[in-house]
Amino acid sequence: MKTNYPTIHPNVKGFMHGGDYNPDQWLRYPEIIQEDYRLMKLAKSNTFSLNIFGWSAVEPEEGVYQFDWLDDIMENLAEQGSHVILATPSGARPAWLSQQYPEVLRVEQNRKRNLHGLRHNHCFTSPVYREKTRKLNRILAERYADHPALIMWHVSNEYGGECHCDMCQEAFREWLKNKYKNDLDALNHAWWTGFWSHTITDFGQIESPAQHGEYQIHAHNLDWKRFVTDQTIDFYRNEIEPLRELTPEIKITTNFMGNYPRMGPYLGLNYDQFAKEVDVVSWDSYPAWHGDYQEAWELAADVGFVHDLFRSLKGGQPFLVMECTPSLVNWHKVNKPKRPGMHLLSSMQSVAHGADSILYFQWRKGRGASEKFHGAVVDHVGNENNRVFREVAEVGDVLSRLRDVVGATTSPEVAIIYDWENQWAIDDAQALNVDNKKYLEACQSQYRAFWKRGVPVDIISMEKDFSNYKLLIAPMLYMIRPGVAERIEEFVANGGTFVATYWSGIVNENDLCFLGGFPGPLRQVLGIWAEEIDTLYENETKTSTFSSSHHLGLEGTYTAKDYCELIHPEGAQVLAEYQEDFYSGMPSLTVNQYGEGEAYYIASRNEDNFHEEFYQKIIDQLKLSSSFQEQLPEGVNAQVRTNGEQDFVFLMNFNDTRQVIKVPENVSYYDMISEKEITETIDFNPYQVYVFKKDK
Ligand code: GAL
Repeated sequence: MKTNYPTIHPNVKGFMHGGDYNPDQWLRYPEIIQEDYRLMKLAKSNTFSLNIFGWSAVEPEEGVYQFDWLDDIMENLAEQGSHVILATPSGARPAWLSQQYPEVLRVEQNRKRNLHGLRHNHCFTSPVYREKTRKLNRILAERYADHPALIMWHVSNEYGGECHCDMCQEAFREWLKNKYKNDLDALNHAWWTGFWSHTITDFGQIESPAQHGEYQIHAHNLDWKRFVTDQTIDFYRNEIEPLRELTPEIKITTNFMGNYPRMGPYLGLNYDQFAKEVDVVSWDSYPAWHGDYQEAWELAADVGFVHDLFRSLKGGQPFLVMECTPSLVNWHKVNKPKRPGMHLLSSMQSVAHGADSILYFQWRKGRGASEKFHGAVVDHVGNENNRVFREVAEVGDVLSRLRDVVGATTSPEVAIIYDWENQWAIDDAQALNVDNKKYLEACQSQYRAFWKRGVPVDIISMEKDFSNYKLLIAPMLYMIRPGVAERIEEFVANGGTFVATYWSGIVNENDLCFLGGFPGPLRQVLGIWAEEIDTLYENETKTSTFSSSHHLGLEGTYTAKDYCELIHPEGAQVLAEYQEDFYSGMPSLTVNQYGEGEAYYIASRNEDNFHEEFYQKIIDQLKLSSSFQEQLPEGVNAQVRTNGEQDFVFLMNFNDTRQVIKVPENVSYYDMISEKEITETIDFNPYQVYVFKKDK
């Protein structure tokens, strides 16, 4: 397994620190741009993303180009030794383009075309928009191919959304013809259109899903979402064509999104597919720290899950934090600045999980329009004499001390399956607690048990290779695409431990239910049959009791909420039974021996303490390694990165209180942040972080 990755460009020697720089908004203020260069040095920053929304500045009229300002900025940044991540500006278009070519404007699901405005709202199919963006990208690549500051392309910005214009409808129909090989009978079967007399007799009858039209044919919805991902990727491929041709050595990324408030990934696009198209994964991370509804460590665990997911997209290759805020945002419900210390801690958390950059939105707060109160490195006061600036400079300083960490990764023995298509299908199903099925939360609650113990985890889709893991967990694996069950069987037969939960093995890739008993193709490996599922009201719970004799040695009772599935063992051993309701005495936890391995089935959605106890036993049984061997206080997390020769252990206190870990006798740790040996006790101030380096 690869452990040490090169940086994204030979000129990049350490962490990238800096962010979105929008001098195109400040061209009337040359003295401010001059001042930026001074402040950039003071902020210990070295990398800036330019031109993200610069289209109207580089092409103020159709075919009239104005690059002087960009030339100047790139030149000056190069002179001071900074790197440039150059963006293609397709994320927002100039007014002249919308005026001249209204077809580029996106059409909403209600079939209304948007007016010009906002951003991220173009049609992905429009030949005109494709032609204009490709042309401009070619000019940018020609102009800056050999520029000493250029280290990477930032293609567009946060691709997302969907267009329902006539061209997109036609493209969708073509996509379907291709997928179903022109066979309407195959489509009708996959979509189960006999239902409500929805049989399609001509591809021309098909429209994208709409609230005032068709939206309850779940396979239709799924195919539309797949099409939207494919069409967006196709648009992206069109954008990068000239970049690949003219700058083959320069790596390409596009910034993926996180999803607030649930703190998962963005659900509109299948990033597992998209990640194959980029050279390096980058994402924009905006957790709402200091909410009054959860502890910081609880949010930190969910953020850790998302970082791990983005790291796992390319098999452990370090990713980039393309955007985060040095302080607050302007779009949470309550916009709270990060408390002192949280900026360093949250930055270190990103690095601990595999980030090789801390980049901000944005360098300098704008004077007007919607983001003028969004946090930035340089505030309206315009100087370095404030807390946020000082904390940014501190991050820059710490990053320079952690340089050896760049390129290192982690190779977990545990993987949790989180899958976009499965999420789409679960969310769409008219079943269970209809609006609140909580698939992401189900994954995150299993993850938390490992996070608390500092056991590294990969978050992977069901398409990924399972063979390098000892433990594979598949919460709510509702959809099982072809070949997946066979790969799970093989994994277990070869000695792997597999854990599945309630509401697994229900539908195939077209959302058609498996016939002959759930969990469908997993029935054999799990050794159970799931007959029914009980959905509980919010305040309803059910208890289960562990049976007395089993090898895990779990005792007592535990509590289920939301879902209790009623299962029958078919070869599996019963480890716990329900104690209530008409299903009292039925199994709620089972294990099946299959080949060399074991497959557990957790039939109910349980409180977190179940996961903690259950997975502690599994961690012990499988001897899974954790990032740090000492016991961690609640809210202190450990993560590890390794480059094959050295381990870098991050210890992070997400509590706003002091915490202490005793160091065993004759042991000492070298802390890369304070550059000191730590003996006797590891003493954490609120939000403090240590990074220990040790030779392997
Ligand atoms: C991101 C976006 C940035 C900026 C930021 C504010 O989603 O890419 O341009 O708007 O949000 O938090």
